[in-house]
Amino acid sequence: MLYVKALHIVFVVSWFAGLFYLPRLFVNHAMVEDAVTRERLALMEHKLYRFMTPLGVLAVGFGLWLWFGFAFQGGWLHAKTALVGVLIAYHLLCGKLMRDLAADRCVRSHVWFRVFNEIPVLILFAITFLVVLKPF
Ligand code: HEM
Repeated sequence: MLYVKALHIVFVVSWFAGLFYLPRLFVNHAMVEDAVTRERLALMEHKLYRFMTPLGVLAVGFGLWLWFGFAFQGGWLHAKTALVGVLIAYHLLCGKLMRDLAADRCVRSHVWFRVFNEIPVLILFAITFLVVLKPF
């Protein structure tokens, strides 16, 4: 079980590196006018999204293996899984925003992206406290 949990944490951390950095690239993308920089940012975003997606799948996969493989239970796990559902929706929304920015059809401002960038931080706090403290 501990090997599965260790791999779960490794892929959670790696996935979050992408969830933190990709929206930061969106902030920069929404601020620049020149086509060369926008194209380079679009390429960086595309490569990062392609890299972080399998990491998210593995993080969730090992989490589900822990849940069902080792009979964990409790309200904390349901609350945690609900928050992970929000994270997956956030990840997919990042994919859509990335495509919109690359096609110059995104109307969101850099200020909007700065606020958007904080959402994974709040979810990380909530999930970590839930899984470590198991309050219910
Ligand atoms: C559907 C997705 C997920 C499921 C089903 C899941 C399930 C679990 C389970 C059953 C454990 C073992 C708890 C224990 O040993 O006490 C665990 C550990 C952990 N999970 Fe997840 N997890 C998921 C996603 C995530 C995500 C997205 C995060 C990001 C913050 C996360 C963070 C952690 C941490 C930090 C631990 C270690 C807790 C400890 O050792 O006390 N998990 N997870």
